[in-house]
Amino acid sequence: MALPTPTTSTRAVITGASSGIGEALAERLARRGHSLLLVARREDRLLSLAVRLRDLYAVDVDVLACDLGDRPARTELIDTISDIDVSILCLNAGFATYGSLHDLDPDREREEVEVNVVAVHELLLAVLPRLRARGSGAILITGSTAGNQPSPNNATYAATKAFANTLAESLHGELRGSEVTCTLLAPGPVRTEFAEVADLGRLERLLPSFAWVSAEQAAESAVRGMESGRRRVVPGPSAKLQNIGGQHSPRSISNPLLRRIYGDMR
Ligand SMILES: NC(=O)c1ccc[n+]([C@@H]2O[C@H](COP(=O)([O-])OP(=O)(O)OC[C@H]3O[C@@H](n4cnc5c(N)ncnc54)[C@H](OP(=O)(O)O)[C@@H]3O)[C@@H](O)[C@H]2O)c1
Repeated sequence: MALPTPTTSTRAVITGASSGIGEALAERLARRGHSLLLVARREDRLLSLAVRLRDLYAVDVDVLACDLGDRPARTELIDTISDIDVSILCLNAGFATYGSLHDLDPDREREEVEVNVVAVHELLLAVLPRLRARGSGAILITGSTAGNQPSPNNATYAATKAFANTLAESLHGELRGSEVTCTLLAPGPVRTEFAEVADLGRLERLLPSFAWVSAEQAAESAVRGMESGRRRVVPGPSAKLQNIGGQHSPRSISNPLLRRIYGDMR
């Protein structure tokens, strides 16, 4: 199993490419010769990344500024993508909120579901039939170890990532035997802008340095996982432990533990 052969007319579409894991995925796919379409809201970031990757790797890089939480904007993105020969689709954009659900801003919670769930599903539904029709392709969905178990004080995020994890692994099974693959990237803590966006001031101090991986490590593991048609990629030893613990610990243990950890996080 390998990634589709890069050509000048095909594109790897990466959402959330303006920072963190998405930016590192863009770099790794460009290095392997894939031309790109980069998607996120911060167009300035996307444009400077595009210039850098074109110079370094002589690939075509297009950018599309889109708020994935906005339904009309997503419809425009899907229209644009319908004219492009997408060979790789990385559904990576996302963010988290922490705190008691009743205290959190309802609009931000709804936005989290739109970006982490609805946008992922819509883009996948738009591109998947075309990947199958073209007879080759690779999909990466960024879920999280947070999607392995219910997480008090992180309820919406954990639920959205449970959706991402289950969607990706179900599709992986469906596509078995075809020339299209679907891989789940389920990271634990990755050093990106994620904690800052979630206003998690204490996260750095709560987690020991060995618990973290870099965005580059996470992205490299993800791309290697796609190259070998893996079902689930969990980058780094501490995330692997978390991955097993989250899936197999009784809820009576994980629920109060996570309630305390996430309740203390901000
Ligand atoms: N870092 C971690 O510890 C960790 C752990 C597990 C899973 N993850 C997952 O990894 C993925 C990437 O996150 P990251 O760690 O790389 O964090 P990050 O550095 O904050 O990157 C998040 C990316 O998502 C984009 N994004 C957020 N809201 C968006 C919106 N409404 N419309 C379009 N794009 C949007 C951001 O771009 P703009 O702001 O420019 O729009 C940015 O490019 C996420 O799905 C996250 O849930 C992260």
